[in-house]
Amino acid sequence: MTTARELTPLDRFLADTQRALDTVFGAPAAERGNPAAGIAQIELDENERRHAAGLMRINHVGEVCAQALYCGQAAVARDEATRAHLLEAAQEETDHLAWCADRLRELDSRPSLLNPLWYAGSFAIGALAGLRGDGWNLGFVVETERQVEAHIDEHLDSLPNADARSRAILEVMKADESRHADNAEAAGARILPPPVPSLMAAASKLMKTVAYRI
Ligand SMILES: [Fe+2]
Ligand SMILES: [Fe+2]
Repeated sequence: MTTARELTPLDRFLADTQRALDTVFGAPAAERGNPAAGIAQIELDENERRHAAGLMRINHVGEVCAQALYCGQAAVARDEATRAHLLEAAQEETDHLAWCADRLRELDSRPSLLNPLWYAGSFAIGALAGLRGDGWNLGFVVETERQVEAHIDEHLDSLPNADARSRAILEVMKADESRHADNAEAAGARILPPPVPSLMAAASKLMKTVAYRI
């Protein structure tokens, strides 16, 4: 019979490293079915295909960043319940990551070449936020999710009309992100003071500009 033991810092470090490698270089599997399954694949012209791929690459990077932020925050969380909340949120983002990767393949495209960089930067930001305490940790989740929700809305407007498959994926992601923000609010998130939300928005704008192409 095996007995559960507390995770040591080394166990956690190895688990974090494994997760980072899976997110950036692996092919994480979704637990839920792809929302685009069963929706007809309509032929896009070359400009539409490229634009849709650029948008879905941004969404894929967004999910890589979400995983990294939550893992960075969990790495320094003081309270076990907060850590569990963060790791559970990261787990749910895995579905989004897998669906965006699927759609990128269908669009004959690929994820961002800079994913290792996005992951490392977001992990560091998450850990810094987490060091300020658990109220901040949850506040950071709320702000991240609300910003993601807003950019998904922009993408829903901007996607080519014919791209119903990308749209189906984004609709489900949007509903999930909204629920993630509500859950973190209910768990005791504090409102982040200025200029933190605008700094986060500036970082995500830079990411979106670069990830559309690279
Ligand atoms: Fe997500
Ligand atoms: Fe989320």
